[in-house]
Amino acid sequence: MNKGFLGAAIMAVLAGVVLSQNGYCLPPCNPCTPQIDNHTVIEAVPGLRATVEIIADYGNCSVTYTGYEWQVSWGDGVRSMKNISHISPEQAQHTYQAPGTYTVTVGYCAVPHYCCESCTTLSKTIDVKN
Ligand SMILES: *[C@@H]1O[C@H](CO)[C@@H](O)[C@H](O)[C@H]1NC(C)=O
Ligand SMILES: *[C@@H]1O[C@H](CO)[C@@H](O)[C@H](O)[C@H]1NC(C)=O
Ligand SMILES: *[C@@H]1O[C@H](CO)[C@@H](O)[C@H](O)[C@H]1NC(C)=O
Repeated sequence: MNKGFLGAAIMAVLAGVVLSQNGYCLPPCNPCTPQIDNHTVIEAVPGLRATVEIIADYGNCSVTYTGYEWQVSWGDGVRSMKNISHISPEQAQHTYQAPGTYTVTVGYCAVPHYCCESCTTLSKTIDVKN
């Protein structure tokens, strides 16, 4: 075993310690990052509502990759999340307490393990009305 290899092995162990705070997350992290397709729709709907049609693209994930999560932060402190095994389009809706301007953020993530998820996000500001 040469010194370079030993150094790399120690670094890998140290990285493992840092990344295994949930008990099971080991390198390599970020095996891939899905992309959010530009056909994704984020819009206000009359009746204090907003709707999101989340369309993802494989990005650099292989077609056989499984384990994704999408997240929507509605801009009023409420979040919606869902785990799915394969890339697929999804819809989410939310009803606000009050009219106003809200910034909605959609994230589409590869989740090899909880602590090393890799996401692409898209935000849009919408005017929510009665
Ligand atoms: C995948 O793409 C993201 C950026 O979209 C990049 O940060 C990441 O390093 C890429 N991963 C691989 C394995 O190429
Ligand atoms: C979406 O992306 C494609 C290719 O990346 C581009 O040709 C198209 O104009 C984009 N559409 C919108 C609405 O941005
Ligand atoms: C999705 O899966 C991750 C990893 O197993 C978990 O930590 C997270 O709570 C799950 N999210 C939902 C919305 O079920």
